[in-house]
Amino acid sequence: MGGVAYFCGVEPTSYRTHGCGNLRLSQVGQTIRVAGWVRRVRDLGRFVFVDVRDRSGILQLVALEGTQPYEILRSLGREWVIQAEGILQQRESPNPELPTGEVELRVEKVQVLNTSNTPPFLIEDETDGQEELRLRYRYLDLRRPIQQRRLELRAEVIRTCREYLRRRGFLEVETPMLIRSTPEGARDFLVPSRLKPGSFYALPQSPQLLKQLLMIAGYDRYFQVARCFRDEDYRGDRQAEFTQLDCEMSFVTQAEILETFEGLVREVHRKVADTDLEDFPRLTYTEAMQRYGSDKPDLRYSLEWTEVTSWAQTQPVPFWQSRRTFWLWLPEKKASRKQQEAWQTIAKENGASSLAFIHQEGAHRTSSLAKFIALDEIQLPGDGMGLWLTTDKLSALGAVRQAIIHDLNLTPDKPWSVLWIVDFPLFEEGENGELVAAHHPFVHPHPEDIDRIETDPLSVRALAYDLVINGNEIMSGSLRCHIPELQMRIFRRLGLSEAEAREKFGFLLDALGYGAPPHGGCAFGIDRWVMLLAGARSLREVIPFPKTASGADLMLGAPAPIDPQQHAELLRWLGQESI
Ligand code: AMO
Repeated sequence: MGGVAYFCGVEPTSYRTHGCGNLRLSQVGQTIRVAGWVRRVRDLGRFVFVDVRDRSGILQLVALEGTQPYEILRSLGREWVIQAEGILQQRESPNPELPTGEVELRVEKVQVLNTSNTPPFLIEDETDGQEELRLRYRYLDLRRPIQQRRLELRAEVIRTCREYLRRRGFLEVETPMLIRSTPEGARDFLVPSRLKPGSFYALPQSPQLLKQLLMIAGYDRYFQVARCFRDEDYRGDRQAEFTQLDCEMSFVTQAEILETFEGLVREVHRKVADTDLEDFPRLTYTEAMQRYGSDKPDLRYSLEWTEVTSWAQTQPVPFWQSRRTFWLWLPEKKASRKQQEAWQTIAKENGASSLAFIHQEGAHRTSSLAKFIALDEIQLPGDGMGLWLTTDKLSALGAVRQAIIHDLNLTPDKPWSVLWIVDFPLFEEGENGELVAAHHPFVHPHPEDIDRIETDPLSVRALAYDLVINGNEIMSGSLRCHIPELQMRIFRRLGLSEAEAREKFGFLLDALGYGAPPHGGCAFGIDRWVMLLAGARSLREVIPFPKTASGADLMLGAPAPIDPQQHAELLRWLGQESI
């Protein structure tokens, strides 16, 4: 995270003249007052040293034996809150680890503002607290400097986005939390209505339909830092409650939308990561699947599959005959038998039929296919390892590629890979073979494919795009159906009758009928993006008060049972009899 000054200062107040972390040699000789938390006390007999911390950093206090502050400083405990005043002096032995490491405050007056219980873990970047304990005492965890930097980074990302979007004519509009279901493919969190028993609000999975309605209302360009709720299983990159930077634009093409948001991403990376990003390559969904087996490939690593099906089917390898075969070459690499077996298991679990290897080391070649093919006839570029993966399910290519990167501990070629995936399919097959919307049902089909909606829906491309950063889907968006008849055709193809479509989305169909402009937009997953920018391993590290993998807030003790009276009321609101 280092290197970039996005820090918001600790301002002077009547308690302090400076932030602890803001003092330097140039202030030596001045009378300074600071206030903060005791990080540690070192009693060296003739001197006592105390590190005091606030959000701006750490300052060393010192008092000499025999002075009044000496006795107080010696008696302080970890995390006590103090105010100290004195003269700033140059340190005899500087600490190069700290920005304030060349100075210290010779304390003349000190006051204890509050005591503290002994904290259950070290309030340091490298803490000894396990995650569960840290989440239970989140206010102490958030006091750790590394956490403060992460939340400052988050604030700076959001601030940079706001400024950029305002400059580009976007209006910030808040949309409600108590709404009707918006289908983003997850389960809704529901809120029972007191005034209309048996009826429910849904918390927004995203502000999708509301932002479309704002376009119909003529707002032209909208954005919102929007909280979204999806009752789905938690993973490292998913929380049930998360934040989107949600945007929508009218009278624009896909190319103009991508250009606008490419500019935003560049500005954020320049401001908070001090990085000038290279051009963002554009891959179609089909290309990405064939070359990397994923619609969010991590292109910091150059390894890539090549389809060799027509060659493979001329070879006397029985399991190469009926499916597609892909080749991957890793120069100067080799894998142990255990790794090869692990990758074969991963390939099979992901629907592949076989994974075969060839190794070359000097003049020596080995392969699991030696009994089928003449190894000498295979052209290899030098020493290294080749893989043949036979599969009709392209996601197997991605799973094996990911395992190779991880297991061989490959070093990335560059720190950032940012790319667009375009031309997603409009529909896909659901769990029971039914047709479902690949993203959400409001996406505009590719104009060249519209007449195949009824006849060959799975081949219809969408005007939909994702932004992928280092293998993570950071943003997703599309152009929307703005002609009501087209929207209705898609609902119909998704199995909704006219009556059902009207019942669920009547307000949208009505609104589209009152002069909807061509429009489209996107939403960034702010938590995911900040996680990458902060170099954090999980979303929980960049969300102030996150939930555990089982959906619990360990600090608040939520979710929690409700008292019997609330329970009885709830049953009434649900439209059921009280127990
Ligand atoms: P989508 O559902 O793809 O699109 O969400 C947009 C972005 O939000 C982030 N995201 C999440 N982050 C954390 N936890 C989650 N559970 C979670 N789910 C999604 C991802 C994702 O790329 N309305 C559309 C956008 C549009 O079409 O304009 C939408 O919500 O980074």
